[in-house]
Amino acid sequence: MTEYRRLRVALLGAGAVGSQVAALLLRHGDELADRAGAELELAGIAVRNLDAPRDVDLPKELFTTDAESLILGSDIVIELIGGIEPARTNILQAIGSGADVVTANKALLATHGPELFEAADRVGASVYYEAAAAGAIPIIRPLRDSLAGDRVVRIMGIVNGTTNYILDRMDTEGADFGDVLADAQRLGYAEADPTADVEGYDAAQKAAILASLAFHTAVPLEAVHREGITSITASMIEEARAAGFVIKLLAVCERIEANGAESISVRVYPALVPQSHPLANVHGANNAVFVEAEAAGSLMFYGAGAGGVQTASAVLGDVVSAARRHIAGGVGVGESTRANLPVVPIGHVTTRYQITLQVADAAGVLATVAGILSDGGVSVATVVQTVEGESEPTARLIIGTHRATEEALSATVDALAGSAVVERVVSVLRVEGE
Ligand code: HSE
Repeated sequence: MTEYRRLRVALLGAGAVGSQVAALLLRHGDELADRAGAELELAGIAVRNLDAPRDVDLPKELFTTDAESLILGSDIVIELIGGIEPARTNILQAIGSGADVVTANKALLATHGPELFEAADRVGASVYYEAAAAGAIPIIRPLRDSLAGDRVVRIMGIVNGTTNYILDRMDTEGADFGDVLADAQRLGYAEADPTADVEGYDAAQKAAILASLAFHTAVPLEAVHREGITSITASMIEEARAAGFVIKLLAVCERIEANGAESISVRVYPALVPQSHPLANVHGANNAVFVEAEAAGSLMFYGAGAGGVQTASAVLGDVVSAARRHIAGGVGVGESTRANLPVVPIGHVTTRYQITLQVADAAGVLATVAGILSDGGVSVATVVQTVEGESEPTARLIIGTHRATEEALSATVDALAGSAVVERVVSVLRVEGE
């Protein structure tokens, strides 16, 4: 049997993910040692409350409330507390004491990532965070290592399971947002306060993390344009289906080249995705990340975006990488911000749109609508009209546009809404993935 050096691993937090990480570390010790080239000793688990119930039975003697002492004696620190403090301070303490860090903390990385990476760089330590975006799905390592020699052009991700679950059920059952949300809360898919998920905050944090890595740029969370799914109705989903689309909450991270200058766009919003696109077939609470790279072409990463044991799998993979690096020494994994590309404001982003209007069914209406679009510089690609009612018929116009800037589109939609021939702007949705 190979004799391995022993590394001390500190675990901070024993919630849904932390308790599973501890269980896997204890259960798979031999396999982990062979992969890591080191015996990984779970030195302790720091928690706030020693008596809190845990998802798994773990040896009582491992628990402590003294996070700082545990950190200072460890080679690898796994931070699974979540939130900003004390997680930030604990990670800085770990880096300062020469440990490598593994974290799943998307909120912390999206807001304080550069501070942590710079602190790690100064002392040659590394911060691993595979579990911070899209749970069990390996996406950070592919972006950082596997695609290191390539150039990522675009990432489109379904990175929030709760909203995908809600939209998918609305699509398959024709149900309303509120009813499915209530059901999702009852079943434990959605939190009692669902704001972070349904308003796109969770997806925006993950988008900031993915874009920073993919484009060698520190993307601040404030630069991510964010819209949630609360305005999506059952009839919008039905109309989307009739037109060959599904509605998905997407995190889009895109490289933009114009006039010889490069910039990026990072945005989260519900969008129409063609039914033939692989992302359209991501069902339930699953996540998927579709990556387009110059040399590799299109790649898709799919799986569980949340869940204690699923996320623990990604954490353990990072622990093995951290252990190998801790033994080998040398430079850390490095978070390059060498490009530091500007993030363009949403108004400058171009996409295709689908605009649905309720209009009077009378002579000249179509011409007026076409005139407003033309005045706004928005070019029409497709028009579908349906008519309802006999004595006072109203028409529904579904207009597909060519690519237009958000600025031009939103001014045009305002003009349409103010026009006497338009009874109602029913919906405006971007089209992605064509
Ligand atoms: N609340 C997230 C989701 C999981 O629904 O995907 C944690 O990021």
